Amino acid sequence: MTGPAGLDLTDIHHAYDGNPVVRDFALAVAPGELVCLLGPSGCGKTTVLRLVAGLEPLQRGRITVAGRVVGEPGRDLPPEARGVGFVFQDMALFPHLDIAGNVGYGLRKMATAAKRSRIEGMLSRVHLDGYTRAWPHQLSGGQQQRVALARALAPAPRVILLDEPFSGLDTRLRSAVRDEALHLLKSDQVTAMVVTHDPEEAMFMADRIAVMREGRLEQIGSPSEIYTQPASEFVAEFMGEVNRIDGVVQGGAVRTPFGMLPVNGHADGLAVHVLIRPEALKVNGAEQGIVSEPPIGVLSARVLAARLLGRTSWVHVCLQTDPTHRHDGPGGPETHSHWHVRVPGQFLPAEGSDLQIALDPRQAFVFPAPVPT
Ligand SMILES: Nc1ncnc2c1ncn2[C@@H]1O[C@H](COP(=O)(O)OP(=O)(O)OP(=O)(O)O)[C@@H](O)[C@H]1O
Ligand SMILES: [Mg+2]
Repeated sequence: MTGPAGLDLTDIHHAYDGNPVVRDFALAVAPGELVCLLGPSGCGKTTVLRLVAGLEPLQRGRITVAGRVVGEPGRDLPPEARGVGFVFQDMALFPHLDIAGNVGYGLRKMATAAKRSRIEGMLSRVHLDGYTRAWPHQLSGGQQQRVALARALAPAPRVILLDEPFSGLDTRLRSAVRDEALHLLKSDQVTAMVVTHDPEEAMFMADRIAVMREGRLEQIGSPSEIYTQPASEFVAEFMGEVNRIDGVVQGGAVRTPFGMLPVNGHADGLAVHVLIRPEALKVNGAEQGIVSEPPIGVLSARVLAARLLGRTSWVHVCLQTDPTHRHDGPGGPETHSHWHVRVPGQFLPAEGSDLQIALDPRQAFVFPAPVPT
């Protein structure tokens, strides 16, 4: 339910020169909620944001902010009348205005003293005290991005739109600025839509993630729902790497190297893809937390390579499956012998050594194989 400062998008369609890029799009963001729009390049994320901001005339549907209609075909409110702040991909501060001028840009109606204290307060919150008289070109990319955020938040918008606001930053700065932005938005209880194509960024920031694909909403849910209960193969693969095998449902289950994996709601004879997260493979001797459900099968696997990635280790293995059991998927039986396993912490078994591996069935997803067209 959307209350006083929520954002509602109903039945949005958008086409550029007759090419539809947003279709059947509906989304309600609750007051104070942060929703991440996540999807691959070109799926329409920026277009959705531009429609909400009023930078693109609405062709179909309706957009309301805090219960007030701001966009309807032929009746679009201009961007400045919507109570929506935004920071777009290219960010662009005004080069001819100093930092105070940039942050104060949306505060023209405020009295001078109040305005100055608001600007200083905003700059302090993004850890840029003392920068009021600096010029944009004197700031680093990360500092400019923080100024852009301060500028968008200064007029206290009810709704804020952020389009890949951290994309230009290196990894460390990115997580620092992202963390600051998240705390700022949450402490002000701003309703926010944040665009990203980085699943980890979405999981870090979002109350809910809306996964987009080719202009449509593919799935919406909490980060853990999206990650652990993906609604489609597309979502499962987009959210993180998977090992994939082909199979056919037989007696309510599908054959995997680890044994029969039960499938819910798929008819016998259906061709399916089984997607298995690298962390679903449980290695004997590695610390992998508590497995509440008994893993299935225990297989021998030969280590091809092991790499430390920081917080986790990444192990390439070759499963030693029963030679009478072949998977005849596309690319032949060999395509399934190379598996990726993710283990927390440092776990670097020697190349050529053997491991015992079992499967946590909760992190294996079964979807109908796409019908070839
Ligand atoms: N002004 C425009 N005129 C014509 N086509 C456009 C215009 N803007 C975007 N498009 C097209 O619309 C589609 C969606 O673009 P959009 O910018 O919304 O994608 P996106 O999800 O934000 O991608 P990215 O992650 O690369 O920023 C793309 O195919 C793009 O080429
Ligand atoms: Mg974009």
